Amino acid sequence: MIRARITGIGSYLPERILSNADLEKIVDTSDEWIFSRTGMKERRIAREDEATSDMAVAAGKKALEKSGLPAEEIDLVIVATSTPDHLMPSTAAIVQAGIGASKAAAFDLIAACTGYLYGLSTAKAYIESGIYKNILLVASEKMSAVLDYEDRTTCVLFGDGASAAVISSEGAGLAIDSICLGSDGQLSDLIMIPAGGSRQPVTEETLKNRQQYFKMSGKEVFRHAVRRMGAAANECLEKANLTEKQIAWLVPHQANVRIINALAKNFQIPLEKVAVTVHKYGNTSAPSVAITLDEILAEQAIGVGEHLLLVAFGSGLTWGASVITKIEE
Ligand code: ACO
Repeated sequence: MIRARITGIGSYLPERILSNADLEKIVDTSDEWIFSRTGMKERRIAREDEATSDMAVAAGKKALEKSGLPAEEIDLVIVATSTPDHLMPSTAAIVQAGIGASKAAAFDLIAACTGYLYGLSTAKAYIESGIYKNILLVASEKMSAVLDYEDRTTCVLFGDGASAAVISSEGAGLAIDSICLGSDGQLSDLIMIPAGGSRQPVTEETLKNRQQYFKMSGKEVFRHAVRRMGAAANECLEKANLTEKQIAWLVPHQANVRIINALAKNFQIPLEKVAVTVHKYGNTSAPSVAITLDEILAEQAIGVGEHLLLVAFGSGLTWGASVITKIEE
């Protein structure tokens, strides 16, 4: 039986740092409010001329280098993003050209902050069915392009960034053992960008009402996030036949440190075993779990046979969890 595995990870974070103090000069907020409510201190912001695909290509090249796989060996490029360069063509097609994956197919996947987990699941299915051997999954977002910097309830929460993974049928790395995904479109209006699609094309009226920007009912989303991520993680552990005690690291979506702490408490996973990057990067949406995984792998020695539990939640609503395991080959 083929076992899909991540054989190389690479991330890209823009150089420019936007601190809470910087945000104090833009909207009526304070470092105290932002830090105590979210755990965020700063986030990265892409250059004006830097699009989602540029960050994706930079992360993709690093992942390829880590895996040692030439770009021509990639069969499929998947880009998980809610902030594509254009509505058409796909950002994945632009990334395919940017990394020189000459024989690869390419498509985008939209699942907001759960995009990386939906991408892992798609890659696993393609590889374990024998359809493809090597896939480049990239999660990349330029959230700053869709944030309303007059809305203090949302603009302080997000940052830009990208993270890529080479997922293959062979080689040492992290096996994608179990994945559980879910969605509830009844709650689709809790997190959305109202205008710019076919339901509400951009008009003078929508621009005047600032409908081209990201909107979120934060308080309500908070409750769903804790409940849904907890349930997905439980289901996924059960599917993998593991208990939380067998998890070396919990790698959660980085939306809010209070959500992360509530999740860890429900799972009785000690906080020192929970990966956190929200203070540095804010919520980067789709790449958030992947950027955090990349940092943990760089900083901590993960032994062969050890398990990590990834968990995420986002617009849709969507949610998901995955158990990945270090393997030798
Ligand atoms: N600075 C100062 N005050 C603020 C700010 C700010 N930046 N933002 C809101 N406030 C005010 C509000 O106006 C409100 O004032 P009021 O009581 O006078 O009305 C007060 O602070 C409290 O606001 P709440 O919304 O109740 O604050 P809460 O404690 O719920 O924190 C937050 C808000 C951080 C958004 C939290 O609800 C949250 O993290 N929600 C979940 C977000 C999430 O998980 N998103 C995931 C997916 S995102 C995606 O898919 C792309």
